[in-house]
Amino acid sequence: MTAGVPFDVVILSSGEGTNLQNLIDHAARSHDRIRIAAVFSDHRSRSLERARDAGIAAHHLSAKGFADREAYDAALGDAIEALEPDLIVLSGFMRILGKAFVARFGDRIINIHPSLLPKFKGLHTHRRVLDAGDAFHGATVHFVTEALDAGPGIIQCRIPVLAGDDEASLAARIHEVEYMIFPRAVEWCAGGLVQFTGDEAVFDGMPMIGPVQVKHES
Ligand code: GAR
Repeated sequence: MTAGVPFDVVILSSGEGTNLQNLIDHAARSHDRIRIAAVFSDHRSRSLERARDAGIAAHHLSAKGFADREAYDAALGDAIEALEPDLIVLSGFMRILGKAFVARFGDRIINIHPSLLPKFKGLHTHRRVLDAGDAFHGATVHFVTEALDAGPGIIQCRIPVLAGDDEASLAARIHEVEYMIFPRAVEWCAGGLVQFTGDEAVFDGMPMIGPVQVKHES
């Protein structure tokens, strides 16, 4: 980030967009240090309404009408590249981005995932944590690579699974944790504190052996 020049972020979000809202609110408080240049969604989602309400360009790009994943990714990539963002943030974006897209933007895509990666990649993480009888759950922000939910971690927050927890209660508490760690990860990227070399994540010039780990006693 250059002093006085906003750090431009493009956010991809498929659904309800509560993390998006949290990032919008964070950017609004940043006095133009962080600027959300646009929001893209693969659905006519609440995310797009939240972006519009905040005066942010909101684009619906449905997968319908594209021959395959590569064609969709290419169109999305072209639209994003035109904005020259410093960072692409996957905030509840429920499509897998293919090899070519990741290669195109590979060192500047981050994702939030509702689990203590590398545990529980993919979907239905809250249910799977309960089924496994795990004592802890959490959320992770990581750089995106070709492999699903497997790129180097930036920050991870752990919470205890409480007696009586169900999917809904875990989802709500994981959201609270996400609202805490996601803006921090964006700030770290904006400030150059955390970078991705393409091979590994680097924190303040030092290779990371894992995400920064924090806990939340909720
Ligand atoms: C978040 O919990 C996020 O971690 C998850 O979707 C939710 C979106 O909520 N992402 C994934 O599962 C990606 N694999 P939101 O739309 O209210 O921010």
